[in-house]
Amino acid sequence: MLGEFTYSNPTRLHFGKNALASLKDELANYGKNIMLTYGGGSIKKSGLYDEIISILKDCGKNVTELPGVMSNPTIEKLYEGAKLARENNVDLILAVGGGSVCDYSKAVSVSAYYDGDPWDKYFLRMEEPECKIIPVGCVLTMVGTGSEMNGGSVITNHAQKLKIGHVFGDNVFPKFSILNPEYTFTVPQYQMVAGFFDIMCHILEQYLSGDDDNTSDYIAEGLMKSLVNSSRIAVKNPHDYEARSNIMWTATWALNTLIAKGKTTDWMVHMIGQSVGAYTNATHGMTLSAVSLAYYRTIMNAGLKRFARFAVNVWGINPEGKSDSQLADEGLKALESWMREIGVVMSLKELGVTEDMFEGIAKGTFILEGGYKVLTHDEVIDILKRSM
Ligand code: NZQ
Ligand code: ZN
Repeated sequence: MLGEFTYSNPTRLHFGKNALASLKDELANYGKNIMLTYGGGSIKKSGLYDEIISILKDCGKNVTELPGVMSNPTIEKLYEGAKLARENNVDLILAVGGGSVCDYSKAVSVSAYYDGDPWDKYFLRMEEPECKIIPVGCVLTMVGTGSEMNGGSVITNHAQKLKIGHVFGDNVFPKFSILNPEYTFTVPQYQMVAGFFDIMCHILEQYLSGDDDNTSDYIAEGLMKSLVNSSRIAVKNPHDYEARSNIMWTATWALNTLIAKGKTTDWMVHMIGQSVGAYTNATHGMTLSAVSLAYYRTIMNAGLKRFARFAVNVWGINPEGKSDSQLADEGLKALESWMREIGVVMSLKELGVTEDMFEGIAKGTFILEGGYKVLTHDEVIDILKRSM
């Protein structure tokens, strides 16, 4: 393992069909004032809202509701939540929903007691919180982002056409997360497969860096194999508990800092995808699927050995008599055919991107240097063109 690191993850996970039974014990660790954050109504339809309200009442909590957290949560919504949390002297933010609700709740947790503009501080200046942080707990209903066990919080500023993620430290991670795979059964197919690709992409962003022999890469390969296997089952039968539970667990471990250990990590598909998101407000996972193949083809030669290993170890391609470049190419073809099989968006056009957006999207793409190749502005434009 290269590098030196300290490893800990403060989020306690409760997993399985009866995971919600643990909520009561978790709530006992906090004061009376709970802010319940949720999205556009899926939890009311499924009945989860009623179950949670009844647990909160049984535990004698005062509940402040903050509904309407949209996909790709906005800065305006963050201001609203921060104000509400402070006014109600909130002891715990309970996020019930997907990555957007979890991310949003973390952003509120560090903004409620900050007197300045949280957008400037946390997302433009990338500073760490110095104010009081309200603890967050999650009940996850949609799988993909890993937000249930990480410090990530992605907020969109439509006026500035920027979508930016801040990866906060241990003090902002959810204190606990409740993971019941059955909650994900009602996620619409489009969102479900977008989440599957998001998971694959998170793993690849970490796997596609470095050339040492690193345990993190072996774990990454195992996670990808499990995802491919279970996703094929889940797209045909979304109610297959075994498949959905494997995917839920894989998603969590794909982005909870474990497989980033000893890695420089890439994250350029996310940087381009997020900028696409700022211009289109498209579903996160689909912004990644639309640009990823063009990106991987751009960096393939710079990371040839790793792409060849990906082909053999993840897709089971027989290496006999093949050059690294043939293998790398076959690996990307296998990835593409899996993407088509599960049904993710393969082009930016489908997300509403037009050529006049290219300059702006490229400008809003933060260039990171941990992967196999450092992109130029022109290469980003070229990737966007080839992704149409
Ligand atoms: O709002 P509701 O009505 O709940 O509907 C949601 C939403 O429309 C629906 N949904 C969720 N659970 C459901 C369900 N519908 C039926 N049944 C259920 N059980 O699904 C839609 C999408 O939800 P959302 O939370 O937006 O999706 P996702 O989990 O993909 O989160 C996306 C956000 O996470 C950020 C993205 O940028 C995006 O803003 N990310 C966060 C990361 C992190 N924290 O580390 C990393 C990721 O790379 C990502 O950037
Ligand atoms: Zn992602």
